Amino acid sequence: MKKLMFLGLLSVFLYACGGSNANEAASKSASTTPDASNPSYDPNRGEGKFKSVDISGSLDATMAEAGSKIYAVKCGSCHKITEEKLVGPGWKGVTSRHQAPWILNFITNTDEMLNKDPKAQAQLEICLVRMPNQNLADTDARSLLEFMRKNDGVK
Ligand code: HEC
Repeated sequence: MKKLMFLGLLSVFLYACGGSNANEAASKSASTTPDASNPSYDPNRGEGKFKSVDISGSLDATMAEAGSKIYAVKCGSCHKITEEKLVGPGWKGVTSRHQAPWILNFITNTDEMLNKDPKAQAQLEICLVRMPNQNLADTDARSLLEFMRKNDGVK
């Protein structure tokens, strides 16, 4: 029964974020206001435990492979690795849209980021679905980032 409900919800989500512009007008009314009351907020880093990430080296293939597996289990139902939107935005180019610490903080501290971050809120306005917290360990998050880098052409 739970599973059925999930599938039902998912189809609503898919409809709501299918990439057509028809939903964009409707999404405007669901807009949330960015938190201007917090001037210390750094929109490039977001909020969470990751202050900085060393991505100066070449790709870590082992991590990227681990990230690919986690993607298949936890993220692939909502994110494609192309530019195409599913429930959430496609991942192609995500590592140039956002700084590395932002991505790590978003995927490990999703709720707080959706409440505070202007870029996350802009995506929410388009997708109309709050990405659920994924309970990722730090190393899982880092592996996913490496998988995203690989997907964006880092070698
Ligand atoms: C139930 C659907 C769902 C699942 C599962 C999901 N996401 Fe998301 N994700 C979204 C939505 C929707 C957004 C857009 C922001 C919002 O509306 O909450 C998003 C946004 C993102 C963004 C920002 C993308 C951008 O271009 O701004 C990243 C990065 C991300 N998700 C990573 C992940 C990772 C990593 C996983 C798996 C561990 C994951 N997501 C699982 C729905 C999901």
